[in-house]
Amino acid sequence: MPKVPVYYYSSVSNLTRRFAEHLAQQGRPIRDLADAEVRASEAPGPWVLLTPSYKAGNADEATLPAPVRRFLRSSTNRRRLIGILGSGNRNFGAHYQAAARELASISHRPILYEFELSGTPEDVAATVRILNELDAGLAAG
Ligand SMILES: Cc1cc2nc3c(=O)[nH]c(=O)nc-3n(C[C@H](O)[C@H](O)[C@H](O)COP(=O)(O)O)c2cc1C
Repeated sequence: MPKVPVYYYSSVSNLTRRFAEHLAQQGRPIRDLADAEVRASEAPGPWVLLTPSYKAGNADEATLPAPVRRFLRSSTNRRRLIGILGSGNRNFGAHYQAAARELASISHRPILYEFELSGTPEDVAATVRILNELDAGLAAG
């Protein structure tokens, strides 16, 4: 059964990358949007976004990381996006998961799962399960 790839961005703190790598260890294809070639590419089919939020409490600041916005400039990529995974930190209060939630609201795509920082083993297991269900749903049409 084809596996939906997870395109992710992670800053220098690498928390989201660590989570993505746990998914990869479970056989999930992952693509790093920090790689210029990846963010200039088009997803060959349905894909899932994994993104942290960077709001810093500033209303004027973009919450979605620039490499994610770059990838989403492609209308093909926007159309093929099927769901969003968010990494955040509850210390940011009302801004918790701001990027994932704002994108979900604009794109009308579901938030599949939210976790803090690099996630727990339970977060990884839950996400693996959700993505496997997504694969099965797509295979069933
Ligand atoms: C400057 C700054 C702003 C942040 N703003 C938010 C925010 O608005 N909402 C949120 O949920 N998390 C926020 N976070 C937490 C990060 O999204 C979280 O730590 C994430 O795991 C970072 O992933 P990364 O290390 O892959 O970049 C912020 C972190 C920093 C350093």
